[in-house]
Amino acid sequence: MSALYVLRRAFAHQTAFACSARWSWTQSRSCSSTSPEKHRSSNVMLRHLTSKIKATGPISVAEYMREVLTNPVMGYYVKNDMLGADGDFITSPEISQIFGELLGIWCVSEWMAAGKPKEFQLVELGPGRGSLASDVLRVFGQLRAALGETALSVHLVEVSPRLSEVQARTLTGERSQASSSEDEPVYRRGSTSTGLPVSWYRRLEDVPKGFSIYLAHEFFDALPIYKFQKTKQGWREMVVDIDPEEPDRLRFVLAPAPTLASSTLVQADESRKHVEVCPDGGVVIQRLSARIAEDGGAALIADYGHDGTGTDTFRGFRGHKPHDVLTAPGTADLTADVDFSYLRRTAGDQVACVGPITQRQFLQNMGVDVRLQVLLRNNTDASTRAQLVRGFDMLTNPEKMGERFKFFALLAHGRLAPPPPAEKGKSRAPAPLPLAGFSELKL
Ligand SMILES: C[S@@+](CC[C@H](N)C(=O)[O-])C[C@H]1O[C@@H](n2cnc3c(N)ncnc32)[C@H](O)[C@@H]1O
Repeated sequence: MSALYVLRRAFAHQTAFACSARWSWTQSRSCSSTSPEKHRSSNVMLRHLTSKIKATGPISVAEYMREVLTNPVMGYYVKNDMLGADGDFITSPEISQIFGELLGIWCVSEWMAAGKPKEFQLVELGPGRGSLASDVLRVFGQLRAALGETALSVHLVEVSPRLSEVQARTLTGERSQASSSEDEPVYRRGSTSTGLPVSWYRRLEDVPKGFSIYLAHEFFDALPIYKFQKTKQGWREMVVDIDPEEPDRLRFVLAPAPTLASSTLVQADESRKHVEVCPDGGVVIQRLSARIAEDGGAALIADYGHDGTGTDTFRGFRGHKPHDVLTAPGTADLTADVDFSYLRRTAGDQVACVGPITQRQFLQNMGVDVRLQVLLRNNTDASTRAQLVRGFDMLTNPEKMGERFKFFALLAHGRLAPPPPAEKGKSRAPAPLPLAGFSELKL
């Protein structure tokens, strides 16, 4: 009997329902966030970008994206809570509690497969409103018997002070405090209602070493990308410049000569005509891989993306509608599809990479249908039931999030390797536990 099966059975009778705190995305679709505050911050950001371009010349798309999203004073992520009814987009953990619950089971399953280490760090990159971590922790609470005396701790890597406050309210209520100095690597500490310590960091490097399960949901798509176009003269970088006809407008132009980025970031055998490369994503993958290789653990990365076939995917979202990426910078989310083939390449041979597989497939392998049935059986309220079914459809329908979103994992080498032959007179070590989510559960 697989560990996943045991965990699912242990969890199956749990009917805790957490959706009441969630909002309906149908409601939010009609919302648009064009507040005077957003308008003002757009002007400030535009002025900042145009003076930068006037001083140094056109800037890379990566620098544009980095400034717009994470400038420490006026960045979109730094200033806004963009998820929710008045926000700009919706993500799977905000849509249905089932999503986070199944990822929680995945985390426990990988902890068991690693031999149940005595210390277990849950690390989330870009936790948004804290909903995913909250659902994962509820599962940990319900599987307390399986987790035994393990010392659990929660580590959140979040660049946005605004969102870190939202996360703190979700996960700790009033039990958290910002650190007194800006320079401290841990900028906030708190504890959950059950006493688990929670810490906030700006950078993955600052998270303590040790056995960890890493989650990154819609994190990599927010990291800055470079854009390149194949021309008769070779690869040219697409950069952001001021429109000469309208000094308050930005436009894309092709750099007239090769840049450092176009000479170093495009693969020699690249066959596409337009490519986007996210070196910051590569750096995070290398750090995750090194940590997993050294301390054990696994990373589960979920995002929309492709396996090396995508081309022009850079786009903006505001008020749940597409938004031109160069208009009113700082008032809309900017995002690009994740290139999983690039992540796999940058991981190198430090870890084993699995996936990408579609969200629909992953959730089905994790037992999403059974979980939905359990929640439906135990909830009589018609609107709650309708919300559950709508959430399930949104997450798994191939026309909605089911196919576009993918799951990808980094595992310690040896995690899936067959045990060596038994020594004479001894029995062979048991086969490794199957990897949950990436293949069909065999009961
Ligand atoms: C698209 S949101 C996804 C939020 C959440 N994971 C979800 O699915 O609802 C991206 C998250 O990553 C954070 N973020 C973006 N860039 C970051 C960076 N360079 N370092 C740390 N966090 C970052 C944002 O503040 C936000 O919490």
